[in-house]
Amino acid sequence: CQELGIRPQTLEDYIGQKELKKILKIGIAAAQAREESLDHLLLYGPPGLGKTTMSLILASEMGVDCKITAAPALERPRDITGLLVSLKPGDMLFIDEIHRLNRMTEELLYPAMEDYRLDVTIGKGQSAKTRSIPLPRFTLIGATTKVGALTSPLRDRFGLIQRLRFYEVDELTIIVQRTAKILQTLITQEGAVEIARRSRGTPRIANRLLKRVRDYAQVEKVSTIDDKLANIALDVFDVDQKGLDWTDRLVLSTMVEQFGGGPVGLEAIAAATGEDSKTIEEVYEPYLLQIGYLNRTHRGRIVTPQAYEHLGYQGKLF
Ligand code: ADE
Repeated sequence: CQELGIRPQTLEDYIGQKELKKILKIGIAAAQAREESLDHLLLYGPPGLGKTTMSLILASEMGVDCKITAAPALERPRDITGLLVSLKPGDMLFIDEIHRLNRMTEELLYPAMEDYRLDVTIGKGQSAKTRSIPLPRFTLIGATTKVGALTSPLRDRFGLIQRLRFYEVDELTIIVQRTAKILQTLITQEGAVEIARRSRGTPRIANRLLKRVRDYAQVEKVSTIDDKLANIALDVFDVDQKGLDWTDRLVLSTMVEQFGGGPVGLEAIAAATGEDSKTIEEVYEPYLLQIGYLNRTHRGRIVTPQAYEHLGYQGKLF
């Protein structure tokens, strides 16, 4: 499967996130020297930056298995207990969107993380008894786009809390070239840079755009992707020079045209654009903040002059 094939398999192959890699290398080496499991790890940052990929790499570097789940799949207590009792010593459990755990599931995790113990209640009412089931040592890897939404008892149980940052264009260029090679697609350096520039600092987007450009090249019967072809193709797919797509531009233009550029609250933006407020906050906003097109103030979001200029509003008064 190509989706699996394009994920890097080792820390060496993983491009970017230098500080994170440095810290994790120390953690791995120390845990291996002591023949222990890695400390529980919380990875946070915008989607598509490689949180799942990094977890799979950590498991393979530690020589253990990694079970992957996401908070919305852990609805009933038996969902999490079933996973925990199936772990082998040293295994990793990856929980995506960990800020969305329900309270019962979260409370089952506390003793599991701290004392490798599962406290289950058997029976109901007066005759209810709690039983402790020992668990093997394991590593919980939590991933979230919203570290601030975690409760402090949960956050405090992670030994390592690390942020993934947006990638630089030169890092994304290498990722595009690497993926192109795996997909057996010819691309020039300039072609890779062009895709990287429009990928919003995000490898998942870079790889997705590469596939769209590759489709375009195939249909146009062009054998090598260069910057000119990448440019034309990305225009066709409505990805602009800054990598903003239709929704990014809708959010910004709605704020300008309906709210005078702000300050405006997230819910008002969501209602006016018809987008889900969580998606705006967790998927669209982080990059718009990063490139300085949006600012957050205590009174709401505002559109910056750079965004006005990018959208072609200069000279217009609102
Ligand atoms: N593919 C997606 N993310 C990657 C990364 N950080 N390094 C290498 N290849 C990737």
